[in-house]
Amino acid sequence: MMRLTSRRLQRLGCVLALRLMALVLREISGAWALDNGLAMTPTMGWLHWERFMCNTNCKEEPDSCVRYRSFGEKLFMQMADLMASEGWKEVGYEYLCIDDCWMAPQRDSKGRLQADPKRFPSGIRHLSNYVHSKGLKLGIYADVGKKTCAGYPGSLGYYDIDAETFADWGVDLLKFDGCYCDTVEQLADGYKHMSLALNKTGRSIVYSCEWPLYMWPFQKPNYTEIRQYCNHWRNFGDIYDSWQSVKNILAWTSSNQRTLVSAAGPGGWNDPDMLVIGNFGLSWDQQITQMALWAIMAAPLLMSNDLRHISFQAKTLLQNKDVIAINQDPLGKQGYLLRKEDSIEVWERPLSNLAWAVAVVNLQEIGGPRSYTISLASLGQGVACNPACHITELLPVKTKLGFYEWTSYVKTRINPTGTVLLQLKISQTTF
Ligand code: GLA
Repeated sequence: MMRLTSRRLQRLGCVLALRLMALVLREISGAWALDNGLAMTPTMGWLHWERFMCNTNCKEEPDSCVRYRSFGEKLFMQMADLMASEGWKEVGYEYLCIDDCWMAPQRDSKGRLQADPKRFPSGIRHLSNYVHSKGLKLGIYADVGKKTCAGYPGSLGYYDIDAETFADWGVDLLKFDGCYCDTVEQLADGYKHMSLALNKTGRSIVYSCEWPLYMWPFQKPNYTEIRQYCNHWRNFGDIYDSWQSVKNILAWTSSNQRTLVSAAGPGGWNDPDMLVIGNFGLSWDQQITQMALWAIMAAPLLMSNDLRHISFQAKTLLQNKDVIAINQDPLGKQGYLLRKEDSIEVWERPLSNLAWAVAVVNLQEIGGPRSYTISLASLGQGVACNPACHITELLPVKTKLGFYEWTSYVKTRINPTGTVLLQLKISQTTF
């Protein structure tokens, strides 16, 4: 049996104190969130925008125009069917979300929004019934200003009536955009008003905002306030199906992480925009990077792709249960960039049960795979692997790397623009 020498006792004391401190720090952060009991973990689902945009030309493009159903072609209905039948729902993708361009150009005689009668002939209530019958939830889109970004009727002056309409239709999530507002006061008042109006309906409706994105050009957003009204909020411009776009989002997020990380927690999340995995613009390694980093950032996982035409590889990545478990970790702490050295970025995220996720990204776009060695003592505020831990590589390929002591090093090898995602689980044993 191992004898406890006074040095060992001292070290043990130190370890326990550090661990206690980490626990206390984890508990006290995470400000007061919108009290609707929703989005206790980041929202998961599908959102039409990046892949299908404002395609209303159903004559020329019957398969990909924004519509419910008509003559057998049914974008949202088909997505609902596939979400339920192809394993998406089982792993957590629950919300089927309509973005812009679903509306008729005018409100009805009672001032209510209405769906385009040609593209949604049976209306949103019918669609929500269908979506619910599949065990899924329905998301819809509106705008705080005079018009939506694509020019459809905005909600300014109609917040209460629109909230009631959405609740009547059985909507479960509202993405509320911020185009066509005249002042920042109008923007802020509108976002708050809609939050209260949604709450007043008595229906559980996840409230997805773009408030800070439209606020940043004028003043630094007050995230404590935003968190009190929204379940998630977009901070940065729209994602495109390109590596440049994913890179820009990551760079912006890490350079503002002091502000962003403390704002996130159960009930309220930073939203770096949709997952574009399964489309055309990202290489395999770049898709891995998006999945890994969206998990580290505790981001809503809203795919925008065509579930009717998706590769087996992309589907497997999007349905990776280990990575989803990191994204959905109940502790709800957003991860952050720990260091950047010679185009290699190390990100980390604290998880429940004293575990940590670590992502090593190779941003060098010339040459082949690069090796990078990490001192375990430098991870997780010094406690992630103290006194020892089991390390598993989750991406690109699930591999048990083994048992490591605090003083040791782990070696990674990362493809250009790719990521190695590790999970560290603490162990009380040492060699
Ligand atoms: C804005 C939003 C996008 C999308 C479009 C729709 O650009 O940021 O996510 O909703 O409007 O017009």
